[in-house]
Amino acid sequence: MSIALVILAAGKGTRMNSDLPKVLHPIANTPMLVHAMQAGSALSPARTVVVAGHGFDAVRTAANDFDEDVIVVEQKEQNGTAHAVDVCREALKGFDGDVIVLFGDTPFVTAETLTKMVAAKAENAVVVLGFETAEPGKYGRLIMSGNQLDRIVEFADASDEERAVTFCNSGVMLAHRDTLFSLIEEITPQNSQGEYYLTDVVELARQRGLGVTAVACDEGETLGVNSRLHLAEAEAVFQTNARKDLMELGVTLQQPETVMLSFDTVIGRDTIVEPNVYFGPGVTVESGTRIRAFSHLEGCHVSRGSLVGPYARLRPGAELSENVHVGNFVEIKNAEVGEGTKVNHLSYIGDATLGAGTNIGAGTITCNYDGVMKHHTTVGDNAFIGSNTMLVAPVTIGNEAMTGSGSVITKDVPEAALAIARAEQQTKPGVARKLFDILKKKKQKRASESK
Ligand code: UD1
Ligand code: CA
Repeated sequence: MSIALVILAAGKGTRMNSDLPKVLHPIANTPMLVHAMQAGSALSPARTVVVAGHGFDAVRTAANDFDEDVIVVEQKEQNGTAHAVDVCREALKGFDGDVIVLFGDTPFVTAETLTKMVAAKAENAVVVLGFETAEPGKYGRLIMSGNQLDRIVEFADASDEERAVTFCNSGVMLAHRDTLFSLIEEITPQNSQGEYYLTDVVELARQRGLGVTAVACDEGETLGVNSRLHLAEAEAVFQTNARKDLMELGVTLQQPETVMLSFDTVIGRDTIVEPNVYFGPGVTVESGTRIRAFSHLEGCHVSRGSLVGPYARLRPGAELSENVHVGNFVEIKNAEVGEGTKVNHLSYIGDATLGAGTNIGAGTITCNYDGVMKHHTTVGDNAFIGSNTMLVAPVTIGNEAMTGSGSVITKDVPEAALAIARAEQQTKPGVARKLFDILKKKKQKRASESK
């Protein structure tokens, strides 16, 4: 049976106290909506529909950035979860299969859980995802008889006896398109919140004699984000899981709780990550590298055998070949660094191509920006850039060329040449001693005057 995915994401998220629609708040540097879409994509849905309302344009953009085929429908007024599904009718026209409803603010449902639901669907018309919890709070309660789900009662409408139930509704629901839409037609907003509850589908289905069951998953999967506190908790859950996954893949995290990962961080086996390292989006690190403490990486690639940090910053477009060394207080942006090249201390390398086996001395800066435009610096293989060289781009340094320390290089340096561009040194014998004497006397005079 083919599957369509419906993701509800129209709510305002009042408790976030934010200008940004709730579902666009990031977890591990990608909107929580994308996490939900990614979870659903494991079922290879024939169609995906996102229901947006608050911040419609921004939500649509985020959804289509993830997958341009996603259909984004607008729910102008948020009249409840059943109404939100109802506005997908058009978008699901001509689709003959099962519909799985996910919430955009419940980002961590796993592919395995969704697959279990699909399996349970074989013998039931409706399948709901539930979870056992010690703190059921305001979640809807699942009222079971045997393995059949009788109904879902929202907290606001529940009796004390029902509130005592600890098996709760995650919000995820699976039913055939035709069943779902025909049941939704019968839903009325006769409840304490005056909303069309999707959860009423259950009782209505049972009244028709249809089979309804609940599949249980781990509480962590159904974590719903309603506040900044929940967002931080969701981030923590993601980070904990992602660190664990990396360690299982053979990455050493010396102090895992201090390493921040992104949704797409890739790190190869036998790489060692020291404490307090931040991986922004788009980072791939190959096997057998070492990322030393307090480094900040984003949008970059680190090849096998390289050594990064401590205190290194790799920005988008930093491409390190094998066995590269990037040391403390070095920033690299939009630059390729050739095999075995070293940039060990206090440098800025931006918009550049560095060859292999080259040494970049301490304090070297590629002056890539003239205030209006960016320019490129090229350094060849086996070159030696003296400490504190300013490479004023656009400029090219040839293979095996050298620059003298403190040079301001504004013209190309050909292969094997040495370029020195600094004021010539003057050495004046005995002058330092005289100068010291004068200064010491001045100091004494001042001290006696102030008495
Ligand atoms: C819902 C469930 C509750 C469940 C809980 C789990 C209903 C009636 N209740 O309650 O049983 O325990 O989720 O987190 O379904 N949305 C829309 N349009 C609307 C209303 C909601 O798109 O008109 C979206 C929201 O953006 C959100 C999701 O649906 O992503 C859930 O809505 P929310 O209002 O948060 O439902 P809860 O009260 O949490
Ligand atoms: Ca909610």
